Amino acid sequence: MWLYTDTVTEHFQNPRNVGEIENADGVGDVGSLACGDALKLTLKIDGDRIVDAKFKTFGCASAIASSSALTEMIKDMDISEAEKITNEDIANFLGGLPKEKMHCSVMGREALEAAIADYRGLSLPMAEGDVICECFGVTDLEVIRAIKESNLHSVEEITNFTKAGGGCGKCEDKLEGLLLQTISDGLKVVKASQKPKRMTTLQKIKKIEDVLEREVRPGLKMDGGDIELIDVDGDYVIVSLRGQCTSCFKSQTTLKEFVERKLREQVLDTLIVEEDK
Ligand code: FES
Repeated sequence: MWLYTDTVTEHFQNPRNVGEIENADGVGDVGSLACGDALKLTLKIDGDRIVDAKFKTFGCASAIASSSALTEMIKDMDISEAEKITNEDIANFLGGLPKEKMHCSVMGREALEAAIADYRGLSLPMAEGDVICECFGVTDLEVIRAIKESNLHSVEEITNFTKAGGGCGKCEDKLEGLLLQTISDGLKVVKASQKPKRMTTLQKIKKIEDVLEREVRPGLKMDGGDIELIDVDGDYVIVSLRGQCTSCFKSQTTLKEFVERKLREQVLDTLIVEEDK
């Protein structure tokens, strides 16, 4: 089961800008029903400004939330600004996405690029690459771009961001080949067969407890507060704050950011800290 942020849940339950703009100035149609995710983004553009954006999507909660977030982000935005939006920006707007669902934010970014290209009468170079994953229709250019932009280090991460490799698995060797190819671009690539051993949940919990004890608790206790680890579910670290910290955690994001930064530096760089409700 995935753990979603409140923002993801809210956008999934109350998606904004659902529908299709008639006589849209730009249309971005990406994914396919056969692959399990599809997104159609339509834009109304006045001058250089996106004055309206609507979407229709077929996909999971993350796909709906990512599409809804994207439309909120780009409305009333100049095209020159909108085209700088990355999939990370979409995920950040939502307070993060489970790493296995990052491909939903990538689909949003791709739909935006396709819609802007359509408005300009251009075709996207990514679509002209060679299809490397037949199951999900992902091209080599899309994979290489994801590796470079998101600094991916394994086939598993490629699957999280592009879905390539998430079906029959026949393309895994090709994906690994593309990873190695990026070595010349100066990226640190870890072959799937040489991946560092995955941390067990118990090891992860012990490391998190250790960091909380050494790096976080002493400072909090000086202010009369405390922090307790409640649960670890995948990348989500659920904590409970006591005393004065309870209020400061709610009133400012700096404490959450501080704890998250410490855990990311010393345990795993994908961890997300949430307060127990
Ligand atoms: S060809 Fe890529 S998962 Fe099947």
